[in-house]
Amino acid sequence: MKTLTLEAPAKINLTLDILGRRADGYHDMRMVMQAVSLGDTVTVAETTGGFSLLAEGISLPAGKVTLEQLAAEAFFRRLDRLMPGLEVRLAKRVPAYAGLGGGSADVAAVLRCLRALYAPDLPRQALEEIGLEVGSDVPFCVRGGTCLAEGRGEILTDLPPLPDCAIVLCKPDFGLPTPELFARVDGADLGSRPDTAAMEAALARGDLAAVAACLGNVFERMLTEDEGAEIRSIKEALLRHGALGAAMSGSGPTVFGLFDDRQKAVRAEEALEGRYRQTYLAAPVKILENME
Ligand code: C5P
Repeated sequence: MKTLTLEAPAKINLTLDILGRRADGYHDMRMVMQAVSLGDTVTVAETTGGFSLLAEGISLPAGKVTLEQLAAEAFFRRLDRLMPGLEVRLAKRVPAYAGLGGGSADVAAVLRCLRALYAPDLPRQALEEIGLEVGSDVPFCVRGGTCLAEGRGEILTDLPPLPDCAIVLCKPDFGLPTPELFARVDGADLGSRPDTAAMEAALARGDLAAVAACLGNVFERMLTEDEGAEIRSIKEALLRHGALGAAMSGSGPTVFGLFDDRQKAVRAEEALEGRYRQTYLAAPVKILENME
């Protein structure tokens, strides 16, 4: 029976800008996205029938069709083949509802496993299109590396890789549902916007300090006073410990800091994890093309 295990790297947003609401209810985005080494491990195995999803560490919604199943169905529809019995096993490490794309990364890893097992010649572009049927961040998670993401998040342009660095990620205990944050954006004044062009130029120069100086996320301006105060206090703690820059990722609430010194990053992680259980040390992950 066919079986394959792949890593499912989470993502952070080096920049996140929202250009406007679209007629279909989604928002047009301009984001610089980066895959990170904090990730889940995903195994896809062929079985004699049906679809099942097993996850350590998280409880699965009973009787609900999961995004993993929707992705697998879309994959075999695209191949015009009957879906075999499949079991997907997740070893979860990425916190959920955290702005790190953990769910999207799992779906993307399922698709990468299915391609390797059943259709190795299927172009990556096709896999990204199938991913978009399930979620806006899935195409980037199929690709990994460093990308400019536009449209809903599916129009991807590869960028030069983030220079080698240590990344500390810290998730405070409150949740910020993505649709609710997008709803807060509508009609709101987003104020000054992240400078995406400056971020692209900093990446092109391989200048980590300049990348860190350009980090920005418009969702940070949509937070309540209490949420904003907690995000600011984590950013300040990261900067005090030597981060070159810090920002919230995606629709939050995870905050990350970029360090050019691993020792400083380790000390920042140790200092923050006393207060925030979900604190992690990670590194950038390059494009995933050859990782299967
Ligand atoms: O695409 P996905 O299902 O991950 O999106 C979750 C929700 O986030 C959408 O239902 C929508 O409310 C919001 N969203 C958006 N614009 C995007 C991506 C997501 O408004 N580009």
